[in-house]
Amino acid sequence: MDFACLWLALLLPLVAALDFKYHHQEGMEAFLKSVAQNYSSITYLHSIGKSVQGRNLWVLVVGQFPKEHRIGIPEFKYVANMHGDETVGRELLLHLIHYLVTRHGKDLEITNLINSTRIHIMPSMNPDGFEAVRKPDCYYSNGRENYNQYDLNRNFPDAFEYNNVSRQPETLAVMKWLKSETFVLSANLHGGALVASYPFDNGDPATGTLHSRSLTPDDDVFQHLAHTYASRNPNMTKPDQCKNKMNFPDGVTNGYSWYPLQGGMQDYNYIWAQCFEITLELSCCKYPREEKLPYFWNDNKASLIEYIKQVHLGIKGQVFDQNKNPLPNVIVEVQDRKHICPFRTNKHGEYYLLLLPGTYEINVTVPGHEPYLTKVVIPEKSQHFSALKKNFVLPFQGQLDSLLVSDSSCPTIPLYKMLPSHSAATKPSLFLFLLTLLHIFFK
Ligand SMILES: *[C@@H]1O[C@H](CO)[C@@H](O)[C@H](O)[C@H]1NC(C)=O
Ligand SMILES: *[C@@H]1O[C@H](CO)[C@@H](O)[C@H](O)[C@H]1NC(C)=O
Ligand SMILES: *[C@@H]1O[C@H](CO)[C@@H](O)[C@H](O)[C@H]1NC(C)=O
Ligand SMILES: *[C@@H]1O[C@H](CO)[C@@H](O)[C@H](O)[C@H]1NC(C)=O
Ligand SMILES: *[C@@H]1O[C@H](CO)[C@@H](O)[C@H](O)[C@H]1NC(C)=O
Ligand SMILES: [Zn+2]
Repeated sequence: MDFACLWLALLLPLVAALDFKYHHQEGMEAFLKSVAQNYSSITYLHSIGKSVQGRNLWVLVVGQFPKEHRIGIPEFKYVANMHGDETVGRELLLHLIHYLVTRHGKDLEITNLINSTRIHIMPSMNPDGFEAVRKPDCYYSNGRENYNQYDLNRNFPDAFEYNNVSRQPETLAVMKWLKSETFVLSANLHGGALVASYPFDNGDPATGTLHSRSLTPDDDVFQHLAHTYASRNPNMTKPDQCKNKMNFPDGVTNGYSWYPLQGGMQDYNYIWAQCFEITLELSCCKYPREEKLPYFWNDNKASLIEYIKQVHLGIKGQVFDQNKNPLPNVIVEVQDRKHICPFRTNKHGEYYLLLLPGTYEINVTVPGHEPYLTKVVIPEKSQHFSALKKNFVLPFQGQLDSLLVSDSSCPTIPLYKMLPSHSAATKPSLFLFLLTLLHIFFK
């Protein structure tokens, strides 16, 4: 190679690299389309709907089979910018896309990740809000809400109380998207604080609110997920980074303990989509100047990659009848961690259960029949880019027609209110009252 070629080889990556600047809708679309064209075998670009003002809600999928689900390959997602004035996540996800596609085939870890996972990336859930904010501002601005002035992270059905707000197009698009894929793991990227916050955001005495928290039956897994992200982000684990007197030990918190909210997306994902989602607050300043973006990428890159890998925790497989027909809508749950809306197999008879290493009893139940109980051991040394595989063959013959046609989706009403032991939820704290008064919200 002569000198000129060497120079060219050194310069090329710089030319092709994605700029560290804010990408408005047009620039973002151009970038996503360019990626989809240049890396067509491992990416798929589609819009899941439109915002109030008619902007596309883009999702870029990265994977070995980007266009459709394959049995055994878990679905993962990242969603950013649902508060239009919280902008860091939006740019981080564009850089993550660039990083994944340019490392594929060159970096073994990234190649394995793309080979084993279908990764859905939505850089902006609230493109109208983003466009409404004209310049960087560390604090709340009106672009937080969508064009109709609804806070999208208060706009989902709630498991604890009626949330009778008018569902917005952006929310409805996400709800429909969640129905169309078997998502297993997700994170929702926000700004204004520095913490990884895990469900629930709302609560009831049955989930621990009398102790100022609201925990899921999968609390060990959620804590692990939040720590996985926070521990690799150098500033998140440091105390009082944002100088706002909020102290989050190790950079993680339970959502309700921080402050309760109704109609949030992470609770909805867990209850109604069987998808574990946490909320990541990635910057003290909601909309920092673009000169800061390289530092944010540098601080979050390792966390973003390591978090995706967690989709391979636990156990996965298919449920069949005696004749090897896959059975949809079968309840597959772990004893002692029952979900208020039971987790069920998808149309291919598949289940995915995120679990830490340990011994568990799995309960596979066809409604109206005896449960099938099996002990499983999830090994300490986690599997390499795959959960433990275990299929179940149930002692039934022929197609179970009722399973195939029954609509097993849970009603979107406050499920916890329907519990026999239900009593009134605790009142919001003084802190929450002050937040409302001062209009300072993060997640
Ligand atoms: C796609 O390829 C074109 C032509 O080589 C290049 O100019 C462009 O920067 C590439 N885009 C991305 C996002 O890699
Ligand atoms: C990825 O999958 C393809 C096709 O199944 C296979 O050829 C390739 O070896 C895999 N790469 C890695 C790193 O596992
Ligand atoms: C919300 O709607 C439900 C069902 O339509 C109704 O029973 C409930 O009273 C409403 N709650 C509020 C606070 O409006
Ligand atoms: C992390 O903290 C250091 C020291 O306070 C600071 O210089 C750096 O800019 C911070 N990183 C980001 C992305 O803000
Ligand atoms: C197994 O799950 C089913 C359905 O959720 C439940 O009715 C049953 O009580 C469970 N069995 C045991 C032994 O816990
Ligand atoms: Zn937010």
